[in-house]
Amino acid sequence: MKTVIVYYSLDGNTKHAAETLAKAVGADVCEIQPVKPIKSAGKPTFHVLMQGGGQVTFGLCPKIKEFALDLAAYDRIILGTPVWAGKPASFVRTFAKKYAPQNGLADKVTAVFTLSASGDNAGCVTDLQKLLPNIGVSVSLADKSNSLSADNERKLTEFAQQLMR
Ligand SMILES: Cc1cc2nc3c(=O)[nH]c(=O)nc-3n(C[C@H](O)[C@H](O)[C@H](O)COP(=O)(O)O)c2cc1C
Repeated sequence: MKTVIVYYSLDGNTKHAAETLAKAVGADVCEIQPVKPIKSAGKPTFHVLMQGGGQVTFGLCPKIKEFALDLAAYDRIILGTPVWAGKPASFVRTFAKKYAPQNGLADKVTAVFTLSASGDNAGCVTDLQKLLPNIGVSVSLADKSNSLSADNERKLTEFAQQLMR
């Protein structure tokens, strides 16, 4: 099954997971790029939390760029997102709510992985499932500032095994 991992990452945690998973399942990787990116200093600052958290809280769908790959050429899309204010990052919401349905891709999204400071993603996955109902598998990973991140590699391996079945 031809698979692509579509992800957004502000500070690199989700990018790292996307690349690790891609190797494990033999997928291509494609980054969601905002038209107006949020500038980050490598970790969430007050300004970034207000900007990103505000976008999510108000349910905004900020514009994203056209993708470098033709996503329609893939059978399956695995989505990766940081958790922002308990929900998917705003740019991932744009993908889930607008881009995927408008381009006939919504049914192809069957799995999601999340990165968060807390390691908790329940609300985030539920939110995405409302927009992309074929999401059946998910994994919650913790960012590198949390000691729970020591489990990320094992969790990603198990997630990859689920996806290969
Ligand atoms: C705007 C914003 C809101 C966030 N909200 C949450 C949150 O609600 N819960 C949580 O556990 N982590 C939260 N975080 C932390 C990120 O989810 C976490 O650092 C994640 O690993 C970032 O992924 P990235 O490095 O790929 O950008 C937030 C970070 C940002 C920038």
